[in-house]
Amino acid sequence: MSKKNRSSGWSGRCVYVPGPVIVGAGPSGLAVAACLKRKGVPSVILERSNCIASLWQLKTYDRLRLHLPKQFCELPFMGFPSKFPNYPTKKQFVQYLEDYAAEFDISPRFNESVSSAEYDPTLGFWRVRTTTTTTTTSTTTTNSTNKGFGGGEAGTGTGVETEYVCRWVIAATGENAEAVVPEIEGIGEFGGDIRHTSLYKSGHDFGGRRVLVVGCGNSGMEVCLDLCNHNASPSLVVRDKVHVLPREMLGKSTFGLSMWLLKWFPIWLVDRFLLIVSWLLLGDTSHFGLDRPALGPLELKNLSGKTPVLDVGTLAKIKSGDIKVFPAIKRLKHHTVEFVNGITEKFDAIILATGYRSNVPSWLKEGEMFSKEDGLPKRPFPNGWKGECGLYAVGFTKRGLLGASMDAKRIAEDIERCWKAEAKHCTPFTTSSSSSAPS
Ligand SMILES: Cc1cc2nc3c(=O)[nH]c(=O)nc-3n(C[C@H](O)[C@H](O)[C@H](O)COP(=O)(O)OP(=O)(O)OC[C@H]3O[C@@H](n4cnc5c(N)ncnc54)[C@H](O)[C@@H]3O)c2cc1C
Ligand SMILES: NC(=O)c1ccc[n+]([C@@H]2O[C@H](COP(=O)([O-])OP(=O)(O)OC[C@H]3O[C@@H](n4cnc5c(N)ncnc54)[C@H](OP(=O)(O)O)[C@@H]3O)[C@@H](O)[C@H]2O)c1
Repeated sequence: MSKKNRSSGWSGRCVYVPGPVIVGAGPSGLAVAACLKRKGVPSVILERSNCIASLWQLKTYDRLRLHLPKQFCELPFMGFPSKFPNYPTKKQFVQYLEDYAAEFDISPRFNESVSSAEYDPTLGFWRVRTTTTTTTTSTTTTNSTNKGFGGGEAGTGTGVETEYVCRWVIAATGENAEAVVPEIEGIGEFGGDIRHTSLYKSGHDFGGRRVLVVGCGNSGMEVCLDLCNHNASPSLVVRDKVHVLPREMLGKSTFGLSMWLLKWFPIWLVDRFLLIVSWLLLGDTSHFGLDRPALGPLELKNLSGKTPVLDVGTLAKIKSGDIKVFPAIKRLKHHTVEFVNGITEKFDAIILATGYRSNVPSWLKEGEMFSKEDGLPKRPFPNGWKGECGLYAVGFTKRGLLGASMDAKRIAEDIERCWKAEAKHCTPFTTSSSSSAPS
C-alpha cells in the first residue's frame, strides 16, 4: 500500500490518522490514549519495542517495586486491585498496565520506532515517520571491550518505513528513554563486566564477586542492596551530595505525608520536618559518606528535578560496612578502579547506575517546546504539556506517574475541544488504517 507523497518527496508507506498520534506505549502513552478514548477521540500509539511499558518489562531489575504507595501511581479512571500490596511489585504493575490497555481497548503499533516528527505548515499537518524494528533487548553480560553498556532497545531495522500524517502529535517517550553511559577514562582497559542498570536483573549473576555500583540514585542504592542479598561484595560511588529519606515515617509513606503537610505548611518547613525525622530514623548520613545538599529534599526536587533516594534498607548495609562508599572515579585500569581521593581498589564488575535521559531531540523536529539539551519541555510544571500546532507532551514533569496522569487529562480535554470543532467541517478521511495521504 505504498504511495508517494508528492509534497514531501516521501516514497514509503503513508497513513492518514484522523486523531492524535502518540509516540510511546509506556504508562504515559496508555494514560493519554485512555483519556482520549473516554472523550470519543481515537488515537494511534507507535511503540518502538514489542510490548507496552517496555521500560518496566525489559529494562528493570527483578526486585523492583513501586516506591510510592499505589494510590499515587494509578492511571486515570482505573485504580489498582485492592488485593495488591501498598507497594506493588514490578510484575503486578505490569499486570495492571496490561489490564488498563485491555479495559480501554488500546492496541499500540509495536516495533515501530519514530525516527522523525515534523510539522508541515503548508499542509497544516504533522508528518511522523517510523522505521519498523525487531526488538532485541539484550540482558546478557556486557564486556567492557564492547560498546554496548546501556540497555537500549537494540532494534534491528527491517527497512519498512511509514509516514503517519496527523493533526496532533503527543510525545510520550518518557524521561528515561535512553541509558546515560558516562565517559570514564580507561573504560576499555577494565576487562570485566560493565553494564548499565537497565541491563541488570539480579544479584544472582554476581554472587561472590566485587562489584562497583556507580551512582547513588534510587537505582544504585537498590542494586547495592540486591547485590548484598546475593552474597556479592558491592561498593558504591557517591560523587555528589544526596538526600536519603526513609520510605516511610510515622507509619505513613514519606511521599504521602509530604503531600499532606504541603497543604498546610510552606515547603521549607516541610523539608525541615523531613530532615529531622530522617535524622532520627537514619542518623547523620554524612558519617557514611552521604553528605546532604544545602537545599531541603522537596525544594531541591522542585528546583532541579533531583529525586531524593527513598531508602529500602541500603543505608543499614552501608552502616554495617557491607557496602563501602567511594568518591568519584578518576580512571579505570585492568580490573582496577582509581578514585579521586587516590585510593585504588580491585573489582570484578561495574554497574553503571548513572540514570537515563529523554530522546525527544533525536526525533522531534521543532525548536520551541522541548529543550535540545535535556529533551524536556522548556516551560516548567504545570505548563509543559502543550506546545504549538497540535504538539503535546505527557510524562515529562519529573513527577512520576502522578504527573503523567495530570498531563494526560489536560491533553485529552484540549484535543477534545478541537476535535469537536473540526469534526463539524472535516469529513474526507475516516479510518486510521486506510493507507492514504491527504496531499
Ligand atoms: C527503575 C525505575 C523505577 C521507577 N519507579 C517509579 C515509581 O515507583 N513511581 C513512579 O511514579 N515513577 C517511577 N519511575 C519513573 C518512570 O519513568 C515512570 O514510572 C514511567 O515509566 C514513565 O512512563 P512513560 O510512559 O512516561 O515513560 P516510559 O515508561 O519510559 O515509556 C516510554 C515508551 O516510549 C517508547 N519509545 C521511546 N522512544 C521511542 C520512539 N522513538 N519511537 C517509538 N517509541 C518510543 C519506549 O520504548 C517506551 O515504551 C521509575 C523509573 C525507573 C527507571
Ligand atoms: N521504584 C523505585 O524504587 C525506583 C527504583 C529505581 C529508580 N527509580 C526512579 O527511576 C528514575 C531514574 O533513577 P536512577 O537512579 O536510575 O537515576 P538518577 O536518579 O538519575 O541517578 C543517577 C545517579 O548517578 C550519578 N551519576 C551520574 N553519572 C555519574 C558518574 N559519571 N559518576 C558517578 N556518579 C554518576 C548521579 O549523580 P549526580 O547527582 O552527581 O549527577 C545520580 O546520583 C528516578 O526517577 C528514580 O526515582 C525508582
